[in-house]
Amino acid sequence: MYYADDLIEEVRSRNDIVDIIGSYVNLKKKGNSYSACCPFHHEKTPSFHVSREKQMYHCFGCGVGGNVYTFLMEHENYSFPEAVEALAERAGVKLPEQSMTPEAKKQADVRTKIKDMNKLAAAYFHYLLKSEHGTNAMKYLKNRGLTDETINKFGLGFSDVYSDDLYKYLRKKGYKDEELKDSGLVKFDEKQGGTDRFWNRVMYPIIDTNNRVIGFGGRVMGDGKPKYINTQDTPVFDKSRNLYGLNLAKKSKRHGIIFCEGYMDVISMHQAGFDNAVASLGTALTVGQVNLVKRFTDHVYLAYDSDEAGTKAALRALEIMREFEMSARVISLKPYKDPDELIQTEGTDSFEKRIDEALSGTMFEIRILANNYDQEDPQERTQFQKEAAKHLCMITDPLERKNYTDSVAKEYDIDPENLKEAVTRYGIANAGRTDTSVFRERSERRSPEDEKEKKFLKAERLLITWLINENSLFEVLKGKITADDFFEPVYHSIATELFDQYSKDGKVTPAAIISHYQSREEHEKVSGIMQQNFEMEISQGEKSKVITDLVKRVKLRSIQHQIENAKGDLTKTGKLIQERIETNRLQINL
Ligand code: UTP
Ligand code: MN
Repeated sequence: MYYADDLIEEVRSRNDIVDIIGSYVNLKKKGNSYSACCPFHHEKTPSFHVSREKQMYHCFGCGVGGNVYTFLMEHENYSFPEAVEALAERAGVKLPEQSMTPEAKKQADVRTKIKDMNKLAAAYFHYLLKSEHGTNAMKYLKNRGLTDETINKFGLGFSDVYSDDLYKYLRKKGYKDEELKDSGLVKFDEKQGGTDRFWNRVMYPIIDTNNRVIGFGGRVMGDGKPKYINTQDTPVFDKSRNLYGLNLAKKSKRHGIIFCEGYMDVISMHQAGFDNAVASLGTALTVGQVNLVKRFTDHVYLAYDSDEAGTKAALRALEIMREFEMSARVISLKPYKDPDELIQTEGTDSFEKRIDEALSGTMFEIRILANNYDQEDPQERTQFQKEAAKHLCMITDPLERKNYTDSVAKEYDIDPENLKEAVTRYGIANAGRTDTSVFRERSERRSPEDEKEKKFLKAERLLITWLINENSLFEVLKGKITADDFFEPVYHSIATELFDQYSKDGKVTPAAIISHYQSREEHEKVSGIMQQNFEMEISQGEKSKVITDLVKRVKLRSIQHQIENAKGDLTKTGKLIQERIETNRLQINL
């Protein structure tokens, strides 16, 4: 931790969460809280809530949540110290100079500078495209059917014909060689000094989900090689964790997200109204990218090129989707090469139709399999059917397996009973097999022990939620339960802080507790714990019963643990057993 706790808390308390989030999101007042459509995932009805009282936010749709710091970390991609600094500045709180380690400070500065340079470069390229310098580039883009609106929406640009144009421009803006080198925009060599990475190319700025320009793709106008040059990885640009177009696609009202291969495909699809299209950045699809998309949707369409490379890429992508339990469908573009070509030739309706007709991942895989065999040759046909059965038997859900088996039988004119039998046979042969690269086991079975454990954990979590929501419970529960009765380490530490805060101030400040954790993941976990049941309408009688049950559950488990730890100490055990009897009789009346 780089800043002192009380300073972090002061900065936090001086920045009202409703003001901060309200400056990014259109909040509507609803009872005690404010709500909006969640800025972190796509939705039509608001499930994102902000509480002024608690100084916290939470989305019931996608589960994000936290305090003002968490929000800036999520929304602006800030590190924790960066969030503290931004809010300190806003509230006029002076932070001690050397609060970050010099190394961390240097890294944060480098990242900020690169983002600033990228932003300047994007604006400059865009300006050049529209100036006389960009006449050819503009012609090229117009020839490819792009409208002015599309060009502006994607911030397309042009890097001039001189090989040090941007270098000079950014130098004039005050950036030093060292800084320019970090940005990946300029290369240096002994003889020539600084030269631009991109020149005489059409420029595609790559923008992340926080609307920051993190890199560029640059295309030759014509048939030169290489066709595209992309920004190399820099401290702000990680190809494997970003997707071209996701900044726009995340706001789309269309169903799911369409993955394709190229920048131009994305642009073309958006222009045709398919504004949920994204592309990876010149590499195969990565786990990091799927993880990113999963924040917005569980449904994916693949519109990969129709050549062999595209098919391979689709098969690999399907495997990743399966691991993430996402539903994936494959759009056929044949006889066209890619979505751009299809839309340019056949238009919007045809693409829409192909989306409707997209094959499920499984049917696509079987089709690819079928292509490997000559269906006219009985021997090859048998081989195909065996392979298809092997593939089908890996589907873990029985109903889904049956449905797919029926569909495959119908599609490939196989006797359904024969196929079913083969699937069952391979299923038995493969039972217990753990390597299911094609179809992974979806849900591990839980033992009754696990279930019991989960119930206890849930009781601890819910009790914390209640304490936060109704501070008067601290009085009611005095002598009946303490922070030490909470067993799970995170819950125990939260409970300890809450009981402390209450005994000191007569109230609790949950938002302050979140700041004790530094990573986004921890913020999310802790805030998630704190704000379930934000608004609950229940009668006093029901509430008494619920609280009684929760307290009993947590307390009895705590007593059980203490008895085990007492290891035969009779006095202690006796006391604990007495306590257990009392707890069993416990009745809380609110
Ligand atoms: P494509 O060759 O399919 O390009 O490469 P495209 O996007 O359809 O472009 P147009 O229509 O020919 O203008 C697909 C993607 O692979 C990456 C780029 O991200 C490109 O959009 N790529 C391709 C490179 O990074 N470098 C290359 O030389 C070629
Ligand atoms: Mn193309």
